[in-house]
Amino acid sequence: MIGFRKIIRDYLTDFNCHSFNWNNTTMNVADALTARKSTRAFLDTPVSREKIEKILSSARHAPSGTNAQPWQVAVVSGKKKDEMTAEMEKLFREGDMGEMDYQYYPLKWQDPYKSRKVACGLQLYSTLHIERKDKEKRYEQWIANYQGFGAPVILFFFLDPVMKTGSFLDYGMFLQSIMLSAVEEGLSTCAQAALGQYPELIKKSLGYDNESILICGLALGYEDKEDPVNNYRTPREDIGVFTHFFD
Ligand SMILES: Cc1cc2nc3c(=O)[nH]c(=O)nc-3n(C[C@H](O)[C@H](O)[C@H](O)COP(=O)(O)O)c2cc1C
Repeated sequence: MIGFRKIIRDYLTDFNCHSFNWNNTTMNVADALTARKSTRAFLDTPVSREKIEKILSSARHAPSGTNAQPWQVAVVSGKKKDEMTAEMEKLFREGDMGEMDYQYYPLKWQDPYKSRKVACGLQLYSTLHIERKDKEKRYEQWIANYQGFGAPVILFFFLDPVMKTGSFLDYGMFLQSIMLSAVEEGLSTCAQAALGQYPELIKKSLGYDNESILICGLALGYEDKEDPVNNYRTPREDIGVFTHFFD
């Protein structure tokens, strides 16, 4: 049996896959799926380049139609991150709401999505004891988006404009793969459409072609477990709500 394990381990190592923990102490996929959550306050502990490369190295195994692998990732930290987040925050405070490179959300929300969206906001603000009428505190909490919630690393994701809608599916799989791999590395994330609101600024600042599509950003770092903003979990519908079996 040991021989068989060795063969498998060598095979996985050859293909640069994660080594298996045969004592079964490694997190499994179901654990990682339920452990992942959006984290909105981070410690300033730096994330090593090695860990970031490990996460991306795992995530690149995400499937994509025709194996096109349409992802392009900018890893931003340090002074560059501080400059970019300050610029986004400034624009927002000046009243410039920006515009994403694509229409993420519907212009007119309808149920059941509308109620879920409202519940999502309420959960965040009630956790922080921010009342509905307290517009100032809500505004400041929203602005934390442009600071990447204080994460030491922000990833920005780009798509070549020659690619089409299918690549957004591929991107979703890639993003979730990054978030799950981050869990395995003891790191936390928050995917952020808000970080896609000023695409021109981001592309100019990073030297990307202005025609490329900025998909979104993603905050990456170590969770600040003391911050109450991280102390709630969003609910999910039962599978019966969205599943029908046919035979
Ligand atoms: C592509 C994408 C973009 C998101 N953009 C934002 C964002 O701009 N700001 C934010 O606070 N959360 C953002 N979220 C997080 C969602 O609000 C969160 O995933 C959802 O409420 C479910 O909670 P959970 O991630 O903790 O399970 C985004 C999530 C995804 C997948």
